[in-house]
Amino acid sequence: MKRILLVILLGIGLNAFAQSQTQDKSITKNSIITGGSFSLGKNEFLLNGKPFLIRAGEIHFPRIPREYWDQRIKLCKAMGMNTICIYLFWNYHEQEQDKFDFAGQKDVAAFVKLIQKNGMYCIVRPGPYACAEWDMGGLPWWLLKKKDLKVRTLDDAFFMERSAKYLKEVGKQLAPLQIQNGGNIIMVQVENEYAAFGNSTEYMEATRKNVKAAGFDKVQLMRCDWASTFDYYKVNPEVATTLNFGAGSDIDKQFKAFKEQNPDAPLMCSEYWTGWFDNWGRPHETRSVNSFIGSLKDMMDRKISFSLYMAHGGTTFGQWGGANSPPYSAMVTSYDYNAPIGEQGNTTDKFFAVRDLLKNYLNPGEVLADIPAQMPLMEIPKIKFTQAAPLFQNLPLGKKSVDIKPMEMFNQGWGRINYRTNLKASAAPRKLIITELHDWAEIFIDGKLIGKLDRRRADNTIEIPATKANAVLDILVEATGRVNFGEAIIDRKGITEKVEINDGKTTTTLQNWTVYNFPVDHAFQAKHKFSAQTPNGPAWYKAKFNLTSTADTYLDMSSWGKGMVWVNGYNIGRFWKIGPQQTLFMPGVWLKKGENEIIVLDLEKPAEASIVGLKTPIIDKIKPDASLLSRKAGQELKLANEKPILTSSFDDAKGWKDVTFDVAYNGRYVCFEALSAQQANDITTSIAELQFVGVDGKPISTQKWKIIYADSEEITAANNAADRVYDNQESTMWSSQFVGGKTKHPHQIVIDFGQEVSIKGLRYLPRSDKSKNGMVKEYRIYLKATPFQL
Ligand code: GLA
Ligand code: CA
Repeated sequence: MKRILLVILLGIGLNAFAQSQTQDKSITKNSIITGGSFSLGKNEFLLNGKPFLIRAGEIHFPRIPREYWDQRIKLCKAMGMNTICIYLFWNYHEQEQDKFDFAGQKDVAAFVKLIQKNGMYCIVRPGPYACAEWDMGGLPWWLLKKKDLKVRTLDDAFFMERSAKYLKEVGKQLAPLQIQNGGNIIMVQVENEYAAFGNSTEYMEATRKNVKAAGFDKVQLMRCDWASTFDYYKVNPEVATTLNFGAGSDIDKQFKAFKEQNPDAPLMCSEYWTGWFDNWGRPHETRSVNSFIGSLKDMMDRKISFSLYMAHGGTTFGQWGGANSPPYSAMVTSYDYNAPIGEQGNTTDKFFAVRDLLKNYLNPGEVLADIPAQMPLMEIPKIKFTQAAPLFQNLPLGKKSVDIKPMEMFNQGWGRINYRTNLKASAAPRKLIITELHDWAEIFIDGKLIGKLDRRRADNTIEIPATKANAVLDILVEATGRVNFGEAIIDRKGITEKVEINDGKTTTTLQNWTVYNFPVDHAFQAKHKFSAQTPNGPAWYKAKFNLTSTADTYLDMSSWGKGMVWVNGYNIGRFWKIGPQQTLFMPGVWLKKGENEIIVLDLEKPAEASIVGLKTPIIDKIKPDASLLSRKAGQELKLANEKPILTSSFDDAKGWKDVTFDVAYNGRYVCFEALSAQQANDITTSIAELQFVGVDGKPISTQKWKIIYADSEEITAANNAADRVYDNQESTMWSSQFVGGKTKHPHQIVIDFGQEVSIKGLRYLPRSDKSKNGMVKEYRIYLKATPFQL
């Protein structure tokens, strides 16, 4: 009740403040939205029958505290947007099967109405799949309780039935807000970048029907895909096609093929990536203002509609961060995205660049809205944690299980899980082999930490010392986000298959486990027995702190290890000392005047159990980690005795290049060697994507790929590691180092396919921005059944 009152008071306060600023001229009679029509015309969108250029900004309401929604919407409007684009995440609204929740922070209808109140239109993207660096791309974890689950396909009736049911619930919330019904929703998206996953026309059609049946029967439907994939499946003609691409793209090139096939269609970039998301252990991603603004101007000059993804990223609070794979790489808590509006709702250089650009392209009579006030920030003096509760002294009730199982099978969605069993006596050390570890583990014998395993490195084996009979083995696993993109999206957590022990002679599967579940809800964390102590292993830490006033702040976690933080019951997200994110955004509206409570779960021992609140975020401080490089110190690839299967060269055009070999070749290890670059004097190599084509004419699966060697990688100045060549993201790339280091041709990359394959060709995608730096000219391909000599 108290909180509700606070929200209301705050809301009134902000409104009064906005009104007291100069009068907002953009809210003219015309911009009060009371429904109307929206449809496709010849080469343009039609709003109430008149040409309409969509200038949209994407923001995600779960990533913004409800009290701040209005300020963020106003910022988008002030930047020059006339539309807000939103996702819904199915797993956010149906956290337990059949329990739908659209209240409070999850009240999407209230959010869309607020957009309408601000005189803006709305594009809704309900999924059922979203991607968005969100756990499982928005699909609910409980689907995974079905052992043979398949998603985004007609091959799984359960998935289709559940997703239709979810869409129906979305319809109940939002169908009344279709523009034809008096609301502001001008388009609803079907699925999301489906061609990056599948090519079933029938699945897409069934999902379109489900969206319509949910009540979105009047509104214009759309879908989004890529310039290189939009024709992988057919789409019902009533669904508009829009394309997604990144900052600095060549606009004519992006729309070329689509325009040829659809000469009358209006053009829209439905996700113009303003920046990019960050992964734990990888450098903070940025996209320069210049390259970003350049292509935005190109779109404006060509009257191409756009949506900025993200206009404002916000924060992936709680357990909601996703991951990419292969290789497995989880997302950080901040979703700042290097977007025009910073994580705290702050204006940036990019923000003003967009505003300055768009003011030249407004419709007659249209005026840019005023910029709303910035949210205040504050510092919090050092909070010292004196109370702690060691994890192993606070185990919940254990569950017995003969075989090991992933956490979903114990009805746990997120968090940590401890698997315990007894070992036989052994005088000699043995190997413990885990299949598969999702995602990070600490291994203990009789309470003593033996080591840590990390899925990012595909770690799966650890040496266990000699033990007496009945030694207690504990495997404490932390789940760091379900894969949200691509084939690997079925990503159960904990240990998915088995744990074996190998004594040098025989391999035995361990059984008879006691399993302890550590979910992420606040009530669970708060109930432990806290006392004054300094634990040595995984533990909860608790502190109280007093505030005389509240405002936004960034909690500095840099002296802590790996875990999660709850403040006044709010789960504000994950931290991990490896960076690049060192601070957690703490919204002032979730703080209180007077006493506040903070609980930290740290699976490692903090260097110092204290936290200060800062006024500036630290999201770009990476701990350099040589073990992530694909070249060990001193390694040199020896190709002198190898015979290439192909020596050739590429032209300097952008876009995918297909190369077909004369015959098919068999092998498991491939080396791509760049001998020269397109530009004279360019000593670097960059590659956005590499695919190898099987005898069936289709690219072979990348699921088992591993980079064995790359002579040079840029992993500090930018996120240009060698594995970016097979992350299936066209806007990310491998680049040889451009700051210091060895930057001379030849540049080589060696990939282990994980199994012997037969290949008939390759596909190469040069970097997808306008820059030609590093673009490959002459190259050689080597293929072998056995590893290359290093
Ligand atoms: C794609 C998806 C989005 C998001 C971006 C990357 O375009 O459609 O949901 O994942 O990639 O940020
Ligand atoms: Ca890539």
